[in-house]
Amino acid sequence: MTQRKGIILAGGSGSRLFPLTMAISKQLMPIYDKPMIYYPISVLMLAGIREIAVITTPQDQSQFRRLLGDGSQWGVSFTYIEQPSPDGLAQAYILAEDFLDGAPSAMVLGDNIFFGHGLPEMLTAANAKETGGTVFGYHVADPERYGVVKFDAEGTVEQIIEKPEKAPSNYAVTGLYFLDGDAPRRAKMIKPSARGEVEIVTLLESYLTDGTLTVERMGRGYAWLDTGTHESLLDAGNFVRTLSKRQGMQSGCPEEIAFTSGWIDRDKLAEHAETFAKTDYGVYLATLL
Ligand code: DAU
Repeated sequence: MTQRKGIILAGGSGSRLFPLTMAISKQLMPIYDKPMIYYPISVLMLAGIREIAVITTPQDQSQFRRLLGDGSQWGVSFTYIEQPSPDGLAQAYILAEDFLDGAPSAMVLGDNIFFGHGLPEMLTAANAKETGGTVFGYHVADPERYGVVKFDAEGTVEQIIEKPEKAPSNYAVTGLYFLDGDAPRRAKMIKPSARGEVEIVTLLESYLTDGTLTVERMGRGYAWLDTGTHESLLDAGNFVRTLSKRQGMQSGCPEEIAFTSGWIDRDKLAEHAETFAKTDYGVYLATLL
C-alpha cells in the first residue's frame, strides 16, 4: 500500500476569534501549555504518518516555519504550502495534489483537538483502509455549528449537511478526514458553493454516493474539541490543564510520540528536554528518558 501522507489545514477563515488573530495565526496560539497546532500534528503522528503538508496563509507561513522547521526534530518531514485565500476546506486537496502524488491522505484541521483511550487504534484502522474514505461522527450539543450526519431509519448515513438550520442528528463530522488518492481529482470537480467555498461536505458527498465513505462514530469516551470561539478556546485549555495536572502526563506531545515510535533517539529527546528545561513540558520530557 502507498504510504498515507498527512495534511494540516491551518490557513485563515472568517475567524470568530477576531481581532486576536490579526498578528498571529490562531493555530499558533497556546492551548494551555503548547501551541494549538501541536495537537493535530500529534494526531497524524499517532496514525503513523511522517510526511506532512502544512497549509497556511502566505503571510503566516514564516511563523509556522519558525515554530515547526523541517520536522526532523520529531522524525517527520514538513512541506509548506500556501493557501492564498480561505476558499474552502476541500481546496486543500487541490493545493496538495503534487505533494500527495497519488497517495492517500489524512487531513486534520489545525484547530481540532482529539483525545481518547483507543485513539491510536481508531486511527490505525482508518489508515489501513486503502480505498474510499473515513470520517468521524461525534455527538455534540450544538450540531448546527458543524457538518452534520443525516441517518436513515436503519442508521445508514444518508447525507452530510454543512451547518444546517435544523440539524437532522446530533452527530457532527469532526475535522479529521481519511481519503484515498482520488481526493484531489474529485475536489477539482467541485463548483464553489453559494458562500464561495470548495466545500468539504461536497467532497464527502461524492464518496458517499459511490458507497465508499465510512462514518465511524467516535464514542463518548473521546473528547473532540474545536477552538472556533473564545469560549471553546478557553474550554480546550482548561481541559488539557485538568488532564495533565491529574495524570501527570501530556497529551498532544510530538516529542513523546516521536520517541515512543522510535523516530528520534534518546539523545534527541534529551536535547528537547534541555530546551524546555524551565517548564513543566521540559520536565515531562526528561521523565520519559
Ligand atoms: O471542526 C469541524 C468542522 O470544520 C466540520 O464539522 C465542518 O463540516 C467543516 O466545514 C468545518 O467547519 P468550521 O465552521 O469549523 O470551518 P471554518 O471555516 O471555521 O474552518 C476550520 C479551520 O480551517 C479554521 O481553523 C480555518 C481553516 N481554514 C478554513 C477554510 C474555509 C483554512 O485553513 N482554509 C479555508 O479555506
